[in-house]
Amino acid sequence: MSRSAPLPSSDPSADSGAPQTPVYITTPIYYVNDKPHIGHAYTTIVADYLTRAHRLLGRPAFFLTGTDEHGARIAQVAREHGIKPQEWCDRHSEHFRAAWKRLDVAYDQFIRTTDKRHVDGVRRMLERMHAATVPDGKPVIYEGIYTGLYCLGCEKFITEKELVDGLCPSHLTAPQKLTEKNYFFRLSAFLPQVERLINENSIRILPEERRREVLGLFKQGLEDFSISREKVDWGIPLPFDPSQNAYVWVDALPNYITAVGYGDDPESFARWWTQGTVIHLMAKDILKFHAVYWPAMLLSIGEAVPDQIFIHGYFTVNGQKMSKSLQNAIDPNLLVDRFGTDGTRYLLLTQFPFGQDGDVKADLFIRQFNADLANDLGNLVSRAVTLIERHFEGRRPPGGASQPIDNEQRQQAESCGKRFAAAIESLAPHDAIGAGIDLVRAANRYLEKTQPWSLAKENDLARLGTVLNTAVESIRVAAIILSPILPSKSRLILATLGFTDPEAELNRQGLSGWDRCPGPFHLEAPIFPRMDKVALPSMEKALMSEPTAVAGENVITVDQFRQTQLCTAEVISAEKIAGADRLLKLQIALGEERRQIVAGIAQHYKPEDLVGRTIVVVANLQPATIRGIASQGMLLAASNGPTLRLITTDGPIDSGSSIG
Ligand code: MSP
Repeated sequence: MSRSAPLPSSDPSADSGAPQTPVYITTPIYYVNDKPHIGHAYTTIVADYLTRAHRLLGRPAFFLTGTDEHGARIAQVAREHGIKPQEWCDRHSEHFRAAWKRLDVAYDQFIRTTDKRHVDGVRRMLERMHAATVPDGKPVIYEGIYTGLYCLGCEKFITEKELVDGLCPSHLTAPQKLTEKNYFFRLSAFLPQVERLINENSIRILPEERRREVLGLFKQGLEDFSISREKVDWGIPLPFDPSQNAYVWVDALPNYITAVGYGDDPESFARWWTQGTVIHLMAKDILKFHAVYWPAMLLSIGEAVPDQIFIHGYFTVNGQKMSKSLQNAIDPNLLVDRFGTDGTRYLLLTQFPFGQDGDVKADLFIRQFNADLANDLGNLVSRAVTLIERHFEGRRPPGGASQPIDNEQRQQAESCGKRFAAAIESLAPHDAIGAGIDLVRAANRYLEKTQPWSLAKENDLARLGTVLNTAVESIRVAAIILSPILPSKSRLILATLGFTDPEAELNRQGLSGWDRCPGPFHLEAPIFPRMDKVALPSMEKALMSEPTAVAGENVITVDQFRQTQLCTAEVISAEKIAGADRLLKLQIALGEERRQIVAGIAQHYKPEDLVGRTIVVVANLQPATIRGIASQGMLLAASNGPTLRLITTDGPIDSGSSIG
């Protein structure tokens, strides 16, 4: 049921007359147990960029983003913070909306899986799925038994892969084997059809290596999946068995259809989902859910499958994977503080070609900001406009005869416009942005070659006028092509060229009509002031978001703090635990009292280095059994990424001394 969209003319100015197929662009909906980081920002800015670019090319576009709010994990963090799950979701969903506002992300809809409209839509989908059968008459949904490893601390099933030394990494406890009744989705019945749709590119998976990866999954074999959970209480109850809640992915994936009116707004649903070109954007982490489960779910209820699934690369920071536990997630707000909204958008989208992984280095950001935006673009505007202000009182210079070099520059502008349109079609935002920047660079080279400064000195105003007109026209075209990535600076540039209504110039949906800059030309201040390098080392640190307590969250009273009894202890002996390479067993003295604790520090300290040291322990912790070994307390350590250091005292003190 996938539709192929007619390509818009590669010349954005050409009017084919035929109405353009609408484009529906989505990001994943983000979990609210995390705060927005530049990984989330990347996908979201790409979606915003593509939406703006398609509109510029005359195509109707709808852009959806939002938050994924149900499931055991969310319920657990809310519980840990002593608030209701809904309250947690309200606060955290707002972090995403606030970040997108600062980044000038103009979504058409922000969906939350706790929205009533979404909940109703999911129930409607589940009812249809439940009533459906596969060709041999078997029901799509059937009852089964799910057996898995359940962590009581997390209140969720965890996989073998997630375990560290057989323990839940968050709670250092062994999970229990649990069995519960679940409903299953008969994925096996839809696999051949989904595989065929991907093979024939009706579901286009890009880039090619990801397509191959997905096709490989079919060869390895994929099992029916469970669509419900008995033990998770923060979710959408199944309409046909309210004792079970929908599994988070079965609740999350349909956001793409409930947002545009699945079951409650047939007109909008037909326009965006059934007839539109649907483009799902995401990183590789969630490819299987989108490329296999989601199309199969849609086929089971007789709805169209997505047209394109684009998998972009992963951001790493100084070579490391960005993650909550490494605390190296870069908060996009910090980048906006430094580089402004448009600067941040530009820097994030040009770090690496769409589809490839890329490492983020703070000093490169500064260099690139200065090179591309302050020097290339900012200086071009200031050179051309300042000369017009100085020699033509800011008015549009009278046009003179053109020379071949002027015509070449004009052709450059046209071909960059075409390159931009083609790059948008082939989902290559980095190349589309590159077309704009290349035009800027070509215009700078044009000025170097034509030397308007010398023409001014020689008082050759006729030739000077032609050169400056050619330059500002290239700037106009560059500003239009760059407007999806630099929404406010490009409008500012158009205003500098005399457009009283820059929006109208963008909405004209065309680069055609040379000599359009009306003037008067006036540059108020540099478009992109150069960034100072002095602050570099401190900036590197500032870019790493600290795990701060947001007002109202993670905040405890003094009395609550006092409930934790901390005291000093002396390590009497320490030894490794066979088969657990992260754990050490310590015998410690708290004054007269002897205790045994199990600590996950074996990769940072040798047992012999610990003996005789004074450490800090939580003394009133409920005893636990870790790997079958009793542990009566927990030691304190500071950790930052791969580094871990024990908390000790800065001089000798008796063991068992209280800390407060
Ligand atoms: N809630 C699910 C998605 C459900 S969609 C029906 C989820 N949420 S998430 O918060 O973990 O978001 C994952 C997505 O965030 C990735 O697919 C990608 O779009 C973005 N990124 C998260 N970390 C990233 C990087 N380090 N680099 C680039 N993008 C990253 O999965």
